[in-house]
Order: sequence, then C-alpha cells, then structure tokens
Amino acid sequence: METTLIILKPDAVQRGLMGRIITRFEDKGLQIVGGKLMQISQELAAQHYKDHASKPFYAGLVRFMTSSPVFVLAIRGNSAISVCRNMMGATFGSKAASGTIRGDFGVSNSYNLVHGSDSPEAAAREISLFFKSGEVLEFKRAGECWVYDLSGGKAE
Ligand code: RTP
Ligand code: MG
Repeated sequence: METTLIILKPDAVQRGLMGRIITRFEDKGLQIVGGKLMQISQELAAQHYKDHASKPFYAGLVRFMTSSPVFVLAIRGNSAISVCRNMMGATFGSKAASGTIRGDFGVSNSYNLVHGSDSPEAAAREISLFFKSGEVLEFKRAGECWVYDLSGGKAE
C-alpha cells in the first residue's frame, strides 16, 4: 500500500469542485486517510516546489498556490501514487485526456486543479510537510474485502 499527497489547488476550491474531485478518488476504491482545508504560506510553497525554484513559471506557481485556500489529502491504496497521477492527467489542462481530472474540469495550463506526489520519496516528503504526526490515520474500512481480494492475506 502506498500513501500519496494530493492537493486540491485554489482553483478547485474556488470553483466548488472539491466534492466532485474527492468523489473520483473514493469511487476508484482509494482510501482518504487525511484531509484539511488550509492556506499555504510562502515558506511552505517554497519547500513544496523547491525542485522548480529555477524554472520560469516558479514565481507564478507560488503566487497561485498561496492565493487562496487549498484542500490537502493523504490518499492510500494499491499503487496510489501512479493511480492518482493517472487520474489527474497531463500537467496542462489543454493537453490532459478526457476522463482525467485535469482533462474534464479545466483548459488552463497554470490553473490545473490538482497536485499529486510523483514518487514514493516525494510522497513521504510532502506528507510530512503538510500533515503533523497523528493527522494521517490508519483505520479499517467496512467494505475493504470488496475493494481488494484479501483472501491470500494481502490486498490484491
Ligand atoms: P504538480 O506537481 O502540481 O502535481 O504538477 P505536475 O507534476 O503535473 O507538473 P510539474 O512539472 O511538477 O509542475 C508543477 C506545476 O507548475 C505549473 N507549471 N507551469 N507554464 C509552465 O510551463 C508550467 N509548467 C508547470 C503547473 O501548475 C504544474 O502543476
Ligand atoms: Mg510535480
């Protein structure tokens, strides 16, 4: 099982798309194990996007991400990192395939609705940036045995 960090960006919150986007992850069978509405500070945005600090779009990206509240989620499931990235679609809304979140809800190349961790290392780093110890929960779902085949002792 992997846990990934998803951010519903300011455009998703302002456009009232939080519920519809979260529903997609829930419908897939992924488990929401952490969540909160928050305002990202300059410092947090800089830490989160540190790998992009030298890019031409960096200043605009930090301005956007700190412009209005975001909803952050910790999402767990089998291959959750790549599953969520595939569900998000390509970075630019104008290029993202239909059926993906970015493909279905936007056309902008900057305001692209969601962030998702892109590797296990990034997921661990980002979850610890956005969630304090104890805020990401471990709990059994009533229907887990119908989401995964648990008969062999592990989730298949
Ligand atoms: P994210 O990190 O937000 O999940 O997005 P991503 O992996 O699909 O894309 P990434 O390359 O990490 O870029 C981070 C965010 O920067 C903005 N961006 N603008 N104008 C541009 O060329 C450009 N390239 C990237 C996007 O908001 C992108 O999500
Ligand atoms: Mg990225």
